[in-house]
Amino acid sequence: MAKEARIIIGEKEYKCPVITGTEGENAIDTRSLRADSGYITFDEGYGNTGSCQSDVTFIDGEKGILRYRGYPIDELAERSNFVETAYLIIYGELPTREQLQGFSSRLTHHAAVPVNMEHFFEGYPAHSHPMAILSGLINSLSCFYPEFAVNNHKADLENFDEVASAALSKVRTIAAMSYRMSQGLPYIYPRKDLNYAENFLHMMFTEPYAKHVPSPEISKALNLILLLHADHEQNCSTSTVRMVASSEANLFASVAAGICALWGPLHGGANMAVIRMLESIHAEGDDGSTFIKDAKSGKKRLMGFGHRVYKNYDPRAKIIGRVCEEVLEKLGIDDPLLNIARHLEKAALEDDYFVSRKLYPNVDFYSGIIMRAVGIPMNMFTVMFAIGRMPGWIANWKEVASHPQGRIYRPRQIYIGENQREYVPMDKR
Ligand code: ACO
Repeated sequence: MAKEARIIIGEKEYKCPVITGTEGENAIDTRSLRADSGYITFDEGYGNTGSCQSDVTFIDGEKGILRYRGYPIDELAERSNFVETAYLIIYGELPTREQLQGFSSRLTHHAAVPVNMEHFFEGYPAHSHPMAILSGLINSLSCFYPEFAVNNHKADLENFDEVASAALSKVRTIAAMSYRMSQGLPYIYPRKDLNYAENFLHMMFTEPYAKHVPSPEISKALNLILLLHADHEQNCSTSTVRMVASSEANLFASVAAGICALWGPLHGGANMAVIRMLESIHAEGDDGSTFIKDAKSGKKRLMGFGHRVYKNYDPRAKIIGRVCEEVLEKLGIDDPLLNIARHLEKAALEDDYFVSRKLYPNVDFYSGIIMRAVGIPMNMFTVMFAIGRMPGWIANWKEVASHPQGRIYRPRQIYIGENQREYVPMDKR
């Protein structure tokens, strides 16, 4: 028998259906509650709200499980690569050889950006943050490809294969160009013979007079970082993408909004904040012990720790932590920040403050240390997250755009302001 929930308000009882997901997660469907009772549900920060049904990513935060389209993250990290995983996330199934070839060719075809776009960079001050440039230029792609950005879901879905490949491929090129601009260096065009991660490193670090050839360890590490960030269900930036998409905005506009949401330090910006924190601990000669005390007293926040959903180890943090050690060892790098991070992690995991609040390292705790080893400058860390998250944003845009009864996302609120009052003329205020 289908389950239902009963909500009693005063003398009246309201019945709400229960929705159960394929992994047994239950939700009370309150969509008709306001019409029936005049009440809305209140859940500031949406911590207990299911905003959609999605078949892209499954997370069990209590058990520390993350799966893309049913495949465990550790298996994909071990056996797949970023482009194949991106295909899986966007299209729902692992690609056949032919499908992967077609997808890779479309990415290669879309790797360059229109030459006119180069002029945009000239207008930005050299110290501009690359996240601002990235979101601005990704949105601007809708000006260059209006046929992919009709702002009508049906029309935009007809070009989905092209627009998805364009967004995924050009985000990497624009990211590299924003770095080159900030350094006053000439832009380097993408190459057809390189894989996704290598091409990015080439556009970042090749000089007109010297080819940059990354070591296999470095391109493998970058590939892994991108794969681990590829989707993470209804986080702040992905919900933003869905929110914007629900107004029938095109894919470029929707993912550009996602980039803005990702920028903040409580979300994607945490990877930069972690390195700043580790650097300042190092500069003060602390091994992390004083910092832990400050974090417990609320004076500081242990960046890269804690998560809204994970109340156990973030499985990505486990993989990154392990790979971080391996990469640094292979590259012969002795980064004092890694020792501080390890000490902070150990101290926090033994401390009742963190244990009782179920605060564990999240994906950002070690990713910055690997990115430093790969040679990515710190102000590009969140940009790397954005490149990696693009498949998830695209898949979520597609879910919203393809929804047969799609409605605009429009939460309600509880108003707590002044009641109606009369306008006060200037001389009486
Ligand atoms: N350091 C110290 N204390 C913390 C931390 C932290 N990193 N995170 C949470 N807490 C404490 C809070 O102060 C609160 O304590 P209280 O119960 O005594 O008031 C308790 O743990 C619960 O924390 P909330 O802030 O309610 O947790 P929320 O789910 O709202 O926030 C968040 C999650 C934003 C990730 C938070 O843990 C945080 O700020 N972490 C640091 C920033 C970070 O690493 N962000 C990256 C997140 S992952 C991502 O976006 C890829």
